[in-house]
Amino acid sequence: MSALTTAAPGAPVVELDLAELRHDPYPAYAQLRRSTPLAWVPSVGRHLLTRYDDIVHAEKLPEVFSSREEGSLLLRTVGPNLLREDDPEHRRLRAAAEPPTRPRQVRDLWAGTFERTAHELLDRIADRGEADLIADFAEPLVAANLALVLGLRTARAEDIADWSRAMMAGNSNYADDPDIWLRAEQATRAIEDAVAEAAEAARREPDGSVISSMVHAADPVSLTEIQNNVKVVIGGGVNEPRDVFGVGAWALLRRPEVLDRVLKDPASWKRVFEETARWISPIGMYPRQLTRDYEIAGVTLPAGSRVALVIASGNRDESVFERAEEFDIDRPHRPHLAFGGGPHFCMGAWVARHEVSALAWPLVFSRLKDLRLAEGAADRLDGWVFRGLTSLHVTWHTA
Ligand code: HEM
Repeated sequence: MSALTTAAPGAPVVELDLAELRHDPYPAYAQLRRSTPLAWVPSVGRHLLTRYDDIVHAEKLPEVFSSREEGSLLLRTVGPNLLREDDPEHRRLRAAAEPPTRPRQVRDLWAGTFERTAHELLDRIADRGEADLIADFAEPLVAANLALVLGLRTARAEDIADWSRAMMAGNSNYADDPDIWLRAEQATRAIEDAVAEAAEAARREPDGSVISSMVHAADPVSLTEIQNNVKVVIGGGVNEPRDVFGVGAWALLRRPEVLDRVLKDPASWKRVFEETARWISPIGMYPRQLTRDYEIAGVTLPAGSRVALVIASGNRDESVFERAEEFDIDRPHRPHLAFGGGPHFCMGAWVARHEVSALAWPLVFSRLKDLRLAEGAADRLDGWVFRGLTSLHVTWHTA
């Protein structure tokens, strides 16, 4: 079934300006939820599905809402991979890659090194009294953690972060910029070499990592499949935990009374994590393609229709989350959509939860005394497909 690149008959058409979406997508989402919960948006080339219940409904029907979107930029950048496969292919790849990212493995295999890396990064900045916590701490931390979990022993955190940027630029290269393709190709070649080397080492000596797990999978996975899956993880495993860290820290620093309560009750870091991911979801939307005609949100979409599940909007749906635009760590528990749903539910959720809520935030707020937002800093939120702070300038007291 080839992808349809036009509106379904009868689908409302809504013009949205991509620059405005990047700046702040939430007013447009609120409007869509109210009046056109399924709308064809020409600048995005997809039908945007924006209500919580409709997104959950779609995620329960992966045989209708397929992850195999044809001609996607992700496929061009990475090649076939678990994120853009359906079952049973997806299940085979996921079963091979997932075990090292389960909660127990995170605790037993990775947590100790995650903590040491966080301390080392804080040691480097502790005497300075000021830093950009995104560039100087969160990004190198999550990149180093990702290299560890994947099993890329020789890759430096800077390499992982650079590769991640190059791949993400490729995935969103709607303008077809040749320089962006070139950088993405260089990054993918470098990842392929690093994975081939790591897979060879893990074949001789299993090390519990994601690459090792795929090399020794009961249902075999080829080297190309391992390489492509690692590319997807690098493309998506850096910015999301980095952005939850940044947005959550920023939200608390702007609400000293909430921060105070959290510091007195460390168990509440978990709630801070889930509320941050709901409030400003690091991944705003992802694509699906219909395998057959299907009616949703009052529109019958023909087979081949392209849909974007706008989870950032579902996470602000007022029918599910009261005062949804507010950051409120005390809100009644309702499952948010920030990690997706269905068979593709984020494989790195426990890695991200641990590195951010059990380690990064508690260590930063306990080691950097009297932490404050730097006066006059131009830190801002940016993006809609991926959204986070571009920087987080802070100051603190040094002894
Ligand atoms: C707060 C941090 C994170 C968020 C909000 C997040 C969000 C998501 C979402 C929404 C999806 C589903 C996309 C879709 O269905 O098209 C996903 C899938 C995935 N994520 Fe994450 N992610 C995070 C961190 C990570 C980390 C740290 C890793 C790696 C260790 C990771 C690895 C993956 C993988 C491999 C998939 C594909 C799973 C599959 O297709 O079965 N993620 N993530």
